[in-house]
Parts: sequence; structure tokens; C-alpha cells
Amino acid sequence: MLVKEWIEKYFQALQEVKRNIGLCHMFITGLNTNIDGLKHVRGPEIEKIVNEEKLAEEVLHKLNNPPREIVTFSDVLAGILYCAKNGDGEEWFIRKPRITEMIKSVFGYDRLRMGGQCGIMTNVLALMNLKVIPNVVELPPLQAEQFTKNCGEILIPRFEGGKIVFKKPLEAAREEDKVFIHWIFEFDNQFKARINHEIVEAPVENRFIATYDDENIKLKTDPAFREGTLKVIQKVGRVILSGYHMLQKVYPDGSKPEDYIRETLDLINSWRERNPEIRIHSEIGFLAEPDLRKSVLDMVAPNVDSLGLNEDELADNLHTLGDRDGLAEIKALDAPKIYMGARKILEKYHLPRIMVHTREFSLSLTTPNYGIHPRDELYSIMFGSLFAATLAHTGNFPTIQVAEKTLKSGELKVSMRGMAEHQKLAELLENEEGYPKQKFLEEGFTDTEPSIAFVPSKLTEPKATVGMGDTITSATLAAQEALTRRAKKHQNN
Ligand code: GLC
Repeated sequence: MLVKEWIEKYFQALQEVKRNIGLCHMFITGLNTNIDGLKHVRGPEIEKIVNEEKLAEEVLHKLNNPPREIVTFSDVLAGILYCAKNGDGEEWFIRKPRITEMIKSVFGYDRLRMGGQCGIMTNVLALMNLKVIPNVVELPPLQAEQFTKNCGEILIPRFEGGKIVFKKPLEAAREEDKVFIHWIFEFDNQFKARINHEIVEAPVENRFIATYDDENIKLKTDPAFREGTLKVIQKVGRVILSGYHMLQKVYPDGSKPEDYIRETLDLINSWRERNPEIRIHSEIGFLAEPDLRKSVLDMVAPNVDSLGLNEDELADNLHTLGDRDGLAEIKALDAPKIYMGARKILEKYHLPRIMVHTREFSLSLTTPNYGIHPRDELYSIMFGSLFAATLAHTGNFPTIQVAEKTLKSGELKVSMRGMAEHQKLAELLENEEGYPKQKFLEEGFTDTEPSIAFVPSKLTEPKATVGMGDTITSATLAAQEALTRRAKKHQNN
């Protein structure tokens, strides 16, 4: 397909979804919702704090031996500098509550925003005018204010007089609930700090997250959320679950991460018993601990219909499963290797669907069990990619109207690298599986089992990086819901 034809297809995908979005049933989102405190950091500011607190030696030592958790204030500074130096985006957990107070007084924040995969995806879905029931364990007014207002319907289940009622976030808020702020330190590619003799320069923009949270790390679900979702599950089309990456290897109270995973699986089973038609997607997220990664994959993958990850998470998970070949190529965005890696996970866990999203392209593998036509699947991931590109371009979570305007502006460019990888994948499929190369190149999907859908991303100078994965995922799932409902309607007519 030529660039011009891809642009045309992007328009078709958008129109198809826009026309049918009203057919969507309700969504359930879980599991992690929090507040993000965003702070843009610059080199001189960090230098000053390091010098004033006399922490240069300690910070330099930690820069070369990253603790990957926060016990003292120097760990926060080391985390920021470590991510800046490597252009990485890591999240370290704060082990001592007083560090949160120190961050608040030393750094503060520029602005607050919705945080956590569940929270962000809820807002993205609501901006499409959809109905969503999110899991929010702690809902102080400050958290409630982060939810999208005036668009869609965000429903918080609450017990009242022994019965379940659904409320708007601000009406459901509880003054006494805990406030969880995750500190997001954003830096740009101009970041430069001198710590004693060492100069730390950021090659690209990214962020370091310092997280204090003692509920989301246990995958807690609100009791009214459990009851409420079971009550209305017949009206639900899709469920999106993330947050498993918040799990810890050990907990001070001796509980095990597997216990918490099991509790979520019990809830999944109860939903399915009452509505076998629902489709459940899970985003895996970045888990540093190999043992934990294996537990999540082994326990969650067989219980969901669809799994989503980026290229790094795919490589890490394959490594955990004992697969050591081609991981560097996967991280370097080689589409044939990504396809083969994703296929291994799909087959190992008998998954109906798997999706890999990267900066340059996204691809998915779908079996007939998932119940979507391959063309609709392609349109869905295109719609998701467009939403992520619009977020990057505008710096805000988009509505369908804003996504359309951005697409029309012609400012988003089709990724050339993505197109080249499409070509490579088409060659592999022809040589190894006898699938006509030209057909896949022209259509963007195959009608094999599993079917493959491939889309080169739309690129821009990014104004935002946080929430890109959450946006592509939730917008893709919304598009799937709209297009499968449209297909069912036609079948019944
Ligand atoms: C992690 C962080 C959360 C942030 C999210 C962005 O879950 O804990 O604070 O909003 O990533 O995707």
C-alpha cells in the first residue's frame, strides 16, 4: 500500500467507527486508578537540590547502581537522573510514606491529572461518549475531579441501603478516602545536569515515576464495584484490565502476589458465568521481576480473550518463557520477529487475540474465536493508532472530533519505518506460509488462521508520552465493540 492509500484507509477506519460508536454496550475498566502529579524537571533544578542536600556522592553511586526502589530521598534524585541519562521511562515504588511528603515540599507539582491505566482508559472511553464502570478503590474528591466531565457516562457503584446504585464520580467521592499521588517527573531532550564531575544529558524526552500506593499494588477491587459489575454484566460488551504491573514480589504482611491475581480471576469467572459473551482484554505492563512476570502471564493469559503489550514487554515475556532468540530484533522493532514472538504467546496460552503496539507500527493476531472480521480488526487498530497519534500531537486525550480534525490537518505522517516493516512481514508470510505478499500489502490484513492485521503508525513531534499505550488500547477496544455490534446487527437483519 502506498502512503496515500494508508491515509485513505485511516479515514475509512475513522468513518466506520464514528458511524457505529453508538452501538457499543457498556465497558468495565480495572484495576488501577490514581492521581498523577506532573512535574517538569530541568537539569539546574536537580543540581541545586543535590548540592543543597549534600547528596552528590550518594546520588552518583546510585546512578551507577540503581536501587529501583525509593527508601531515601537520594533514591528519587538518582531515579530522575538515571532515566534522563538513559532516556528510559521507569517507575520505582516509594517504601517510606515520609518520602512522599519530602517530594511534595521539595518539588511540588505543575498540575494534577488522571493516572493509572484504569483511570486513563476510563477517561478515553468517556470522551467517546461511552458508558464505563471503572474500579476506584480510593475516591477522595481530588481523585473524583480527575474524571472526564460532560462526556460519556462514568458510573461508580456504591452501596446505599443495602442496594447497589450508580453515581457520578463527584457524587460518589468520599472525603475520608486516601489520596494516592504518583509523582511523574518529566524531562525533555534539553535536560543537562552536572553532578560533581559527571554530566547527565537526556538523549530523548521521557519520565521517571515515583509511586507511593498501598492498594493498587494489591490489585484491590472496591466491594461495590464487584457487586455492581455483576449486577449489570448482561449489558456489558467489553472489559479492559490492567495494573498487574503494580504487583510486588514480597509484601510486608506476608501475602503473595499470586493471591491477589487469583482474586481478580475469581471476579473474571463470575462475570463470564453471567455473561459468556463479554470480551476481556488485559494490558500486561512492564514488570521488572521475571518470577512475577511468569506468574502474571501463566495465570492471566489463559483467562482473558485478548492480551496487549509493547515490543519491550513482548521481548521480556518471551525471555521469561525461555525463548532467547531474536529478542534484540524484537526490541529494535523487527516486524517478522515481533509477529513470530506474538504468535508463540498466542499459541502457548490458546489466546483468541494478541496485539503488539510500538512507536512505528502495531500488529495483532486474531483467531475466529474472538469473533471479529479481519477487516474490522484492522480498522480497530487503525482507529486506536489514530487516537494515540492525536494524543501525542495535541498533548490532550482526544475526542473523535479532535482525532478527525487532526487527521484532516495532514500534520500526522505515516511511519516510513512502519511501511518498511510491513513489507518485510509480507515477504516472510509469502516465503514461509505461502500467503500472497501483494494481497497482504494491499489489504493490511490476512484471512489466515490466526489472521494478521498490520498498521504503520501516524507520527508527529510528541507533546505527550504518558498514556499513549492506554489510549491505543482503549480506542482499539471501543472500535472493536462498535464494529462487531454493527456486524451482528447486519446479520440479524
Ligand atoms: C503507571 C503509573 C501511573 C501512570 C500510568 C501511565 O501505572 O503508576 O501513575 O498514570 O503508569 O500509563
